[in-house]
Amino acid sequence: MKKYATTIILVGIIIVLGVVLTGVLIYLKNQPPQQRAFQPITAVKPLEPNSSIWGLNFPNEYSSLLKTAANDTSTTYGGSAKLSYLTLDPRLVILFSGFSFSTDYNQPRGHQDTLIDIRATKRVTATTHATCYSCKSSDNPGLWTQMGMVAYDSKLFSAMTPSITNPIGCANCHEAGTMRLVITNPAVDAALKAQGIDWRTYTRQQMRSLVCANCHVDYFFAGANKVLTVPWADGMRVEDIIKYEDSVNFADWTYPGAGTPIMKARHPDYELYTADSTHFKAGVACADCHMPYIREGAMKYSSHDIMSPLLDPQLACGQCHTDVSVVLARVSTIQDTVHAAKITAEDALIDAITALQAATAKPGSDPALLDQARTLHRDSQFMWDFISSSNSMGFHNPDEVLRILQNATDLARQAQMKASQAADDPSLLKTGVYDAMNPKPTPAP
Ligand code: HEC
Ligand code: HEC
Ligand code: HEC
Ligand code: HEC
Repeated sequence: MKKYATTIILVGIIIVLGVVLTGVLIYLKNQPPQQRAFQPITAVKPLEPNSSIWGLNFPNEYSSLLKTAANDTSTTYGGSAKLSYLTLDPRLVILFSGFSFSTDYNQPRGHQDTLIDIRATKRVTATTHATCYSCKSSDNPGLWTQMGMVAYDSKLFSAMTPSITNPIGCANCHEAGTMRLVITNPAVDAALKAQGIDWRTYTRQQMRSLVCANCHVDYFFAGANKVLTVPWADGMRVEDIIKYEDSVNFADWTYPGAGTPIMKARHPDYELYTADSTHFKAGVACADCHMPYIREGAMKYSSHDIMSPLLDPQLACGQCHTDVSVVLARVSTIQDTVHAAKITAEDALIDAITALQAATAKPGSDPALLDQARTLHRDSQFMWDFISSSNSMGFHNPDEVLRILQNATDLARQAQMKASQAADDPSLLKTGVYDAMNPKPTPAP
């Protein structure tokens, strides 16, 4: 009898527990979904240009971004000081002769300095289009959505100035709310599509590089409306880009006296890095070196104080390399070698241009051979500039960079020989033109 009562009590307890458990589960299931561990202090509206509003939710990322305004330290080949490339290397004044880059061309500084720097450069004149603001402001993603990129680019720089009040900010790289990394530049979106790439399928680690491609890529201004165009339809290697710009007959300017239609290359950092560099192949992203994690107390966040990693190599490289001094020595060797190869290409180009100008001026020069010399000059100058305008003095991808510089030098020497042949004048094979120049050229007025 006693045994029977115990069983009833036990069964009763089990039933009660079962009912309670079911109740708890139903209660939990009906709770509103917890979407994120972090509750935003303020709701940020889509494409919000003002970074300080995003900063209410993410004070560490915001305050580290603000630090880029004050960076001014130099490294051997980089850093954030206000430096003129034209003064550092007067060969550039000759190579950009006839084009705005021979008047003013400075080393890049921090992401908060963009509006100060673009508004100060002599390259912007009364006829410059608003396209030059494309990579300078967090107002752009909103303006492009409202106006469309073609209407934006058609406007004059000065006409757009009142609408542009914020330097680079959160809206250039993040989607409000989800904070995921996004492509915000329609020209880059189009260039990726042209290669059959949908960035929305990219992994988080891939986006930690691709987000920089919103701006750190080669581009040109197409047509009378100066529409921002990223020339990737045939691929992202330098040869693919030349092929594409040839196919649309593009030139930024005609080289004075030589008659060569030249295209200016612009900082192809993403293209060079992803061209099978050692770090890219190992799965390392731009943000790994340029936005290392910082620990402050219990907080861990990505530094948004983007700068030369050589200013704090322990933080930037030490996360993966145990012996930082060894890799720093490699950086020095790579940069010195690339710098020397770059100067060699420049000297060859200046010799070629001098010969081409003389051959062009000479009545009776063979026009077909002159045209061949110009094509060689055009390709050589673009290849050299692809490296000259890129950042890191070759460190991002030394093999690819040296391959391209070697081609640039070879094509320049071939251009010089063709020019000499066109004029039937062996004296045009003279070398060392720049070294013999005294005084050296100064920036054009
Ligand atoms: C493995 C580390 C590493 C990766 C990955 C990397 N960089 Fe760099 N980057 C460097 C180093 C080192 C320099 C040279 C800095 C110097 O000379 O002061 C540099 C220089 C630069 C500079 C010029 C900075 C200056 O002060 O001169 C820019 C801009 C830049 N990188 C952008 C990028 C972009 C965009 C990517 C991805 C496409 C990228 N980097 C990937 C290490 C890296
Ligand atoms: C130049 C592009 C860029 C800009 C501008 C930028 N971010 Fe980021 N942000 C990144 C990248 C890259 C990461 C790393 C993302 C990852 O690891 O998934 C990141 C990460 C973050 C994260 C994730 C946590 C962390 O620190 O890793 C937050 C939050 C964030 N950013 C907030 C902001 C805010 C707020 C702003 C504006 C004040 C801002 N970001 C501006 C590129 C940018
Ligand atoms: C919205 C456009 C834009 C995006 C996105 C962008 N950059 Fe930049 N970046 C610039 C411009 C423009 C400058 C030069 C600013 C100046 O000189 O005033 C610059 C400068 C730099 C510098 C030089 C800073 C210094 O102090 O020397 C580095 C390094 C750099 N960017 C790396 C990156 C990396 C890494 C990413 C991706 C995480 C990135 N950038 C994303 C436009 C952009
Ligand atoms: C996220 C990890 C990571 C970071 C950050 C990183 N590296 Fe590396 N690095 C690698 C990997 C992986 C390799 C491939 C070789 C290997 O397996 O050792 C490599 C290779 C190298 C090499 C040899 C390249 C070659 O082609 O022989 C050098 C030099 C180097 N890194 C320098 C640097 C410098 C300088 C920095 C900081 C600016 C840096 N790395 C930051 C992961 C990293």
